[in-house]
Amino acid sequence: MNTFSAAVERSSTLRAAVTEHPGRYRILTGERPTGPLHLGHYFGTISERVRLHRLGVDTFVILADYQVITDRDAMGQVRENVYSAVLDYLAAGIDPDRATIFTHSSVPALNQLMLPFLSLVTEAELHRNPTVKAEHAASGRALSGLLLTYPVHQAADILFCKGNLVPVGKDNLPHVELTRVIARRFNERYSAVFPEPQALLTSAPEVPGLDGRKMSKSYGNAIALSMTADETAALIRRAPTDSQRLITFDSVNRPGVSALLTTAALCSGRDERDLADDIGDAGAGALKKLTTDSVNEFLAPHRQRRTDFARDPEFVRSVLRHGNRRANVEATRTLEEVHAAMGTAY
Ligand code: TRP
Repeated sequence: MNTFSAAVERSSTLRAAVTEHPGRYRILTGERPTGPLHLGHYFGTISERVRLHRLGVDTFVILADYQVITDRDAMGQVRENVYSAVLDYLAAGIDPDRATIFTHSSVPALNQLMLPFLSLVTEAELHRNPTVKAEHAASGRALSGLLLTYPVHQAADILFCKGNLVPVGKDNLPHVELTRVIARRFNERYSAVFPEPQALLTSAPEVPGLDGRKMSKSYGNAIALSMTADETAALIRRAPTDSQRLITFDSVNRPGVSALLTTAALCSGRDERDLADDIGDAGAGALKKLTTDSVNEFLAPHRQRRTDFARDPEFVRSVLRHGNRRANVEATRTLEEVHAAMGTAY
C-alpha cells in the first residue's frame, strides 16, 4: 500500500469534516526554529494553519526548540528564530487570544510524558522510521539518542494537549503514525487517556528553492518572509538560470528557470506555463523581474504587519509567555491523568 497517497485521500475527507465541525478539533503543529521562516513554510503549512484557525479550530503552535539539536550540535540563533517565527504567525493571522503559541522547552510536564511513551515502542520501530533515517544520513553525524527518539518526543508534543488534528508535511507523517500507535498502546495498557490524532497533509504544492532543490535556509535558496523587498530582489538576481532566451516550464531540464516560474505562479495565482508564454523569448532577466515583483507584491502586506508587530517586542514576548502558561496548564492536567492511569498519583 502507498501510505502517502492513502494519507492524501484521508486528508481530503478529513478537511471536509473539519470544515463542517471545526469545534471538534484541536490542532497541534509547529516547527523547529532553525532559521527564519520562508516562502516554503508559508505555502506549505502556515497558510493552511491560518485557514483552520480562522474556521474556529482550537490552535496550538509549538516552537520545537529542543528539536533544533536533533540533527546538529549547536542551538544557533534559537531565541532570535523563535521570536521571528512568532512575528510571522502574528503577521499571517494567528490570533494570540485564541491560539496557544509556545516553546517546547518551557513545558516540563510535556517532556515527562517521554518516559512512559518510550516504554511503548521498541528499538526496532525507532530504527525503521524513514524520516529519522533520512535526517541521520543527511546529518553526517553519529545517530544521537534524541534523533532516534524524535517520533516519541513529537508524540509527547502532540498528545500533551490531546491534539487530534496534526497538519504536517509528508516528512512528518511517520511521526504522526507512531503517535497514533503510542496513544493506542497507552490506552490499552492503562486506561483511555489519549485521542488518536489524525494527520492532515497540506495540499499545497512544494515550493522549490530558487535553484530548483528543496527550499532550505542551509542551501541559501530560500526567500525568507522577513527579508526586505531589496534583499528579495538581490537573492533572485543571483538565482541560477540558463542561457536559453526562450522561457519554458521544464522542471527536469531547466530546474532554475522552472523554480522561478513556480515561485511567481504561486505568488500571483497564475499558471507556470501561462507565465512562461507571457515572457516568451525575453530571457532570464525578464523572468527574474517578474518573479521579484510577484513575490514582493504578494509578501508586502505580510511584511508590513510583521514590521508593525516587531515595533512592540514586549507584546511579542507576552504572546509567548501567555502561550507557555496555557501549555503548562494543559500539560500538567494531562500528566495528572497519566499518573492516575499508571497508578503513580501519590
Ligand atoms: N518536526 C516538525 C518539523 O521539523 C516540527 C514539529 C515539532 C511538529 N513538533 C511537532 C510538527 C508536532 C507537528 C506536530 O517540521
